[in-house]
Amino acid sequence: MLKSNKKNPADNAAEPTEDDIIIEQSLRPSKLLEYIGQESVKQNLQILMDAAKGRGEYLEHLLLYGPPGLGKTTLAFIVAREMGVNIKITSGPAIERAGDLASLLTNLSQGDILFIDEIHRLNKVVEEVLYPAMEDGALDIVIGKGPGARSIRMELPKFTLIGATTRIGLISSPLRDRFGATYRLEYYTEDELKQIIHRSAKILNTQIDAAGGSELAKRSRFTPRIANRLLKRVRDFAQVSGHDTIKEEDARLALNMMEVDSLGLDKNDRRILEALIDKFHGGPVGLNTLAAATGEEEDTINDVHEPFLIRLGLLVRTPKGRQVTEAAYIHLEKKVMEKKQKTLL
Ligand code: ADE
Repeated sequence: MLKSNKKNPADNAAEPTEDDIIIEQSLRPSKLLEYIGQESVKQNLQILMDAAKGRGEYLEHLLLYGPPGLGKTTLAFIVAREMGVNIKITSGPAIERAGDLASLLTNLSQGDILFIDEIHRLNKVVEEVLYPAMEDGALDIVIGKGPGARSIRMELPKFTLIGATTRIGLISSPLRDRFGATYRLEYYTEDELKQIIHRSAKILNTQIDAAGGSELAKRSRFTPRIANRLLKRVRDFAQVSGHDTIKEEDARLALNMMEVDSLGLDKNDRRILEALIDKFHGGPVGLNTLAAATGEEEDTINDVHEPFLIRLGLLVRTPKGRQVTEAAYIHLEKKVMEKKQKTLL
């Protein structure tokens, strides 16, 4: 898969590490029936696929969006399998030139799925080649330069594009309009994560009891990728402790050692909240200032950390910038200045 792996696995960001990709491939459900959670997306997808199959047509182009690690790639693989077609995987930044996209498209077979991850990072030139490909199944190739240049149209095999993004707001409207359906993936509930953890443990031949599963689910940032990553680390911890079943205590101690706290915050989440509290009196502060103060990339704060902290009610985005809530002070055991108390959200 075309991914950059800048992150150290210990960083616990939701970006996939090489290890995650291997784990995900072995744990990934291959049918919609085995896929836990995202009930509304599953229902809609099932209808879309049944209807297309019933008409003997290929599937419309689909756009999946939501925070990283929630299963966008997994769903694309499931759709390919259920429709009985091949899938090719690439990503926005990997398609640098129009020619790269032309070569991808001309190498597809009839009905294939092209999955473009991080589709919001496609450059403009490439995006414009994609429009006629999506709409008319054709590639417009410009031959020559200057006044003598002419354009020829090349028919493409019928294909389905599945685009995935963490930033729906960055997708231009001409591109967004060319998708037949757009689905938003939601964070998972604790109960769904528990089911995923027990399913993964079974595949990994690992015993985990109910309380161990709950503890892990609670600290998994509502994200299956994180749950599966932590499960592997906790399994190592239980094994070297001589325990053949992962119990609550194993999960608790292992996660504490990994600096994943009781709400699932990792040290980067805490660094962001602490910077807001200690350096900016809790905010509001702009994203670029926060990035500079924490040494974290703006995109990572925006796409990975903030959606989770917002979901926990520890941070809010206001028109004036990012601001922590009173719950963040309480969770981090920080004192609120008396004057500040009145303005806290
Ligand atoms: N593994 C990762 N995500 C999953 C999901 N949604 N259902 C089942 N297993 C998974």
